[in-house]
Amino acid sequence: MLYQLPLSLLAFLPLLSVRAAPYCTLRPSSVSSSSPSTSTSGSSPTSSGPSGSSGSNSPSNDLVAMSWFTGWNAASNPPFTPDNITWSKYSTVAYAFATTTPDVNTVALEASDEVLLPQFVDLAHQNNVKAVLTIGGWTGSQYFSTAVATSENRTAFVNAVLGLASKYNLDGLDFDWEYPAQTGIGCNTNSPDDAANFLSFLQALRAAASNLTLSAAVGDKPWTGSNGSPSTNVSAFAASLDYIEVMNYDVWGSWSPTVGPNSPLNDTCAPSADQQGSAVSALAAWTAAGFPANQIVLGVAGYGHSFDVPQATAFASGSTTELAAYPSFEKSDQPLGDSWDSDAPAGVDQCGAATGGPSGIFNYWGLIEEGFLMDNGTVAPGIGYRYDSCSQTPYVYKPSTQVMVSFDNTESFAAKGSFIKSSGMRGFAMWDSGSDYENMLIDSIRTAAGL
Ligand SMILES: *[C@@H]1O[C@H](CO)[C@@H](O)[C@H](O)[C@H]1NC(C)=O
Ligand SMILES: *[C@@H]1O[C@H](CO)[C@@H](O)[C@H](O)[C@H]1NC(C)=O
Ligand SMILES: *[C@@H]1O[C@H](CO)[C@@H](O)[C@H](O)[C@H]1NC(C)=O
Ligand SMILES: *[C@@H]1O[C@H](CO)[C@@H](O)[C@H](O)[C@H]1NC(C)=O
Ligand SMILES: *[C@@H]1O[C@H](CO)[C@@H](O)[C@H](O)[C@H]1NC(C)=O
Ligand SMILES: *[C@@H]1O[C@H](CO)[C@@H](O)[C@H](O)[C@H]1NC(C)=O
Repeated sequence: MLYQLPLSLLAFLPLLSVRAAPYCTLRPSSVSSSSPSTSTSGSSPTSSGPSGSSGSNSPSNDLVAMSWFTGWNAASNPPFTPDNITWSKYSTVAYAFATTTPDVNTVALEASDEVLLPQFVDLAHQNNVKAVLTIGGWTGSQYFSTAVATSENRTAFVNAVLGLASKYNLDGLDFDWEYPAQTGIGCNTNSPDDAANFLSFLQALRAAASNLTLSAAVGDKPWTGSNGSPSTNVSAFAASLDYIEVMNYDVWGSWSPTVGPNSPLNDTCAPSADQQGSAVSALAAWTAAGFPANQIVLGVAGYGHSFDVPQATAFASGSTTELAAYPSFEKSDQPLGDSWDSDAPAGVDQCGAATGGPSGIFNYWGLIEEGFLMDNGTVAPGIGYRYDSCSQTPYVYKPSTQVMVSFDNTESFAAKGSFIKSSGMRGFAMWDSGSDYENMLIDSIRTAAGL
């Protein structure tokens, strides 16, 4: 999770991997697919509680099939615009990001997003998909704390976000506060009362917007409470939010002591030093704090992190093909990722911290583009490989460049889809819409989750 990152190493990671997003009706808890016990799936707004939905592509049930669309990648090379989204795969797509500002009455959108967002919403609606706006993200969470600090500010902030929902004809609002009661990117306003104030804000927003889907992107553990530890009872949030998306990615990366899984399905089966979070432990933590499983959407990653690993340590002892588990890596050298990555010039972020260099991110398509995988997703000739069955994570390694990548493949996505189904979770949310290759990942998780 990003709050664990040494920020000096992070340059662009925040831009690439902050997130959020949403849906709405409850999944039947057992065989009876026609008797949801709470909330509705019709087109008429519900008068109380989490909202009804109107845009599902999966009328047979109420699973959330979601991704985040990143406004900035419309200007990447190759570009990924709303036209590139395979809308039929999703019930909801969230637009990232609008950002908090020092003025509680103003939630900001870049000028380019003001142009693109209406196109995005139109396309979503033409495809019967819910269009949601995500507010916050790693760089956009600086003023959440002050925006929800007082009753007066909460009223103003409710009006500000409802203004956006109305102006852009949104179906929902998604709050990606990274993170309550923490400094986040380094200079976020924060208070021990953040989680409690966030709840009061969500209750006020829900009261004013019964027909909007409301969601929040969250870490692997419940929001930090007033005592500085994860909250032990977050059940009240579940009455105002339709669901949360657990951002179970960036668990390992360049800030970690060794190479490890980006987005582990499980870690309770890993050596104790390597238990850094997973879908399994996140679901356990949130449900133990009273958040119902059928309002928890699993955040999944269509990208991986890269590491510079010398050949002498990359391979398992005696092998030239099988990779070693959790090898050390050259911290001083962050490899360049795929063609969406760049060696950014040195600069400073909004908090004055040094930035620059590559993110090292490889999208799933980027692993094919760069020759790690064949275009059917199998490992290319000459590429080292390991599959960790605890975290359900593949690793690939190119000896000529010493680049090792930990990512998710179709097998990982199928395992996560099966877990969503067997554990009664609400669905999945992929960061991001533009990371897949020919819908291979999304098809894999949809099928396994039962869509
Ligand atoms: C998006 O679609 C355009 C037009 O078909 C295509 O040129 C571009 O490569 C696509 N972007 C990605 C990331 O696939
Ligand atoms: C309320 O919001 C304003 C910005 O509009 C901010 O200056 C003020 O500090 C906030 N109040 C609190 C108690 O944080
Ligand atoms: C929610 O209700 C308001 C007021 O009735 C309406 O203007 C808005 O279009 C509705 N939004 C959605 C997403 O249905
Ligand atoms: C959790 O909080 C809710 C109210 O927010 C309360 O009704 C419930 O009893 C609490 N649960 C526990 C285990 O304390
Ligand atoms: C996670 O690991 C534990 C311990 O090995 C195991 O009991 C459990 O079935 C695993 N869960 C999943 C979803 O893989
Ligand atoms: C994937 O493509 C490669 C190269 O064309 C081929 O050798 C291999 O059999 C294919 N694997 C599968 C599972 O389709």
